[in-house]
Amino acid sequence: MKLRDFYRIIMFVIAVMVFTICVTSCSSEGVDNQAGTVSVLDNGLALTPPMGWNSWNIFQADINELKIKQTADALVDSGMRDAGYTYLVLDDGWMAEERDSEGRLVADPNKFPNGMKAIGDYIHSKDLKFGIYEDRGHSTCQQLPGSFQHEQTDMETFAAWGVDYIKLDSCFAESNGRLSTEDYAIYRKYIDKTGRPIVLSISDFGNGAWAWGGKEWAQLWRTSGDIYPWMDSVYYCADTSAGDHSIHPAFNGLWQFAGPGHWNDPDMLQVGNMANDVENKAHFSLWCILAAPLMAGNDLRSMSDSVKNILTAPEVIKVNQDARGIQGYKVYDSGDQEIYNKPLQDGTTAVLLLNKGSEPADITITWDKIGLSGSQKVRDLWARKDLGNYTDSFTAHNLGQHGLMLIKVGSKGKPLPAPAPVPLDKYTVTDSGTTYMSDLYYIWKSGNSPKSDKNYNNNKISINGKKYNKGLGCKDDTRVMYKLNNKADRFEAVVGLDDAYSGSNTGRFRIYNEDFFGNRVLFDSGNMDKGSSAKNIDLDVKGIKCLLLVFEGDNVLGNWANALAIAIK
Ligand code: GAL
Repeated sequence: MKLRDFYRIIMFVIAVMVFTICVTSCSSEGVDNQAGTVSVLDNGLALTPPMGWNSWNIFQADINELKIKQTADALVDSGMRDAGYTYLVLDDGWMAEERDSEGRLVADPNKFPNGMKAIGDYIHSKDLKFGIYEDRGHSTCQQLPGSFQHEQTDMETFAAWGVDYIKLDSCFAESNGRLSTEDYAIYRKYIDKTGRPIVLSISDFGNGAWAWGGKEWAQLWRTSGDIYPWMDSVYYCADTSAGDHSIHPAFNGLWQFAGPGHWNDPDMLQVGNMANDVENKAHFSLWCILAAPLMAGNDLRSMSDSVKNILTAPEVIKVNQDARGIQGYKVYDSGDQEIYNKPLQDGTTAVLLLNKGSEPADITITWDKIGLSGSQKVRDLWARKDLGNYTDSFTAHNLGQHGLMLIKVGSKGKPLPAPAPVPLDKYTVTDSGTTYMSDLYYIWKSGNSPKSDKNYNNNKISINGKKYNKGLGCKDDTRVMYKLNNKADRFEAVVGLDDAYSGSNTGRFRIYNEDFFGNRVLFDSGNMDKGSSAKNIDLDVKGIKCLLLVFEGDNVLGNWANALAIAIK
């Protein structure tokens, strides 16, 4: 087996484990944020996607004072700081195994003999900002002291060290007994109490912070598990933000939940760690068009000029940092070829034409897909060259695998209209009376997508011989979150295996308040088999923001028949 194949298998196993352990979501009161609007957490931080460097992708836990100081120097000497990369973030592995006698976190004395304040001072002396990693569980993912039940002390300690950015991870958080919304509210409270402006980055493996209101407490949130330096992983992570891996396809990705002060984060960059510059460029172009945080993850001390040129490409970075803050979205996806559009502040729009397929391809963008018509100026943003005027369309010719063109189309003027976001009433309970879950778009998912008003084989839902017109048809692992928005009083459903299933495997239905981290199980059917009688569910769901419906089975068909929310007003 080739090393690369081995890595792929490991990556897949890790992704499955992460999704099995962690599943989530929930919502917030009020109106969901739409592109271009200001966050509820309106503290003026991260008005464009944060840019910087993080130690994890290249060094994992093997960090020390020398490496970090050299990296700070390299950020300056390479021109990256001046290109916008200001946050230098120390990921997991910086701390000692024990807190001090007063319960405060301390730096690992072997790795950081002068302590964290000294590191922060050095970083600040270079006109950079200081970022640090912690975990909201009892331990970090590397089994170092987590912040659970030390929240206030830790936020005070970080502020005293001059920390400007906290990446807050979620390993072991499922034993906190807190919903994600409760957890992050605690951190936000204590960060605010320090009076220091600190960016909060939610690292929760992509469990739906866009759904349960991450923007109320944080400036960015992960949409995926960990990224690895190969294209399958890069494309997978990109698609958690731009595709339907984690949300109903009607949303066309998560773009409508991003904007100034709150960003979808498909994980940190592997630019410079990929196999070659074609891959480095494809990865960087995607992150730029998706308005993703640009946290470099390569060894800056030894990067080649070509990698440096990719990371500092001025016109490409400008697309990412555009003040309008619209996350680019797909306007075409054939499986192998994709086109993304990102309307910019100055009236032009950025378009990425990308060939993921193994065969060379021509890719054409027609102006009608990006709100334009007639003759339009086109500029190549990587080559920094005007290509002339094109009427009705532009074609990128003969793009090899991972080949791309990133162009700017149009002229300065009134900003082009942003696409219409999915309205709230399509994915939340907004009305009094009855709302069938199958009439709403789910806001988060992992595993299979349920079928609306059909069993998973697209036939009528049928349990114990009784047919149902409404409901969700599931197969195997199907986990979906619906947004009740604090509006519903009761949730009802009838659950059981579908009559079309004739095997002897079992399936299990569970309902959680919000997410897996909170571990608040509201209903558990236990294992049900073909002979089991249907179970009626009637739950009090007052005050619940999001409801997570989990079906698990092995080659089994199961139904949430007549699943509905009732709002009494
Ligand atoms: C993971 C996280 C990574 C890195 C690592 C450190 O949970 O997704 O980005 O921070 O923990 O142990």
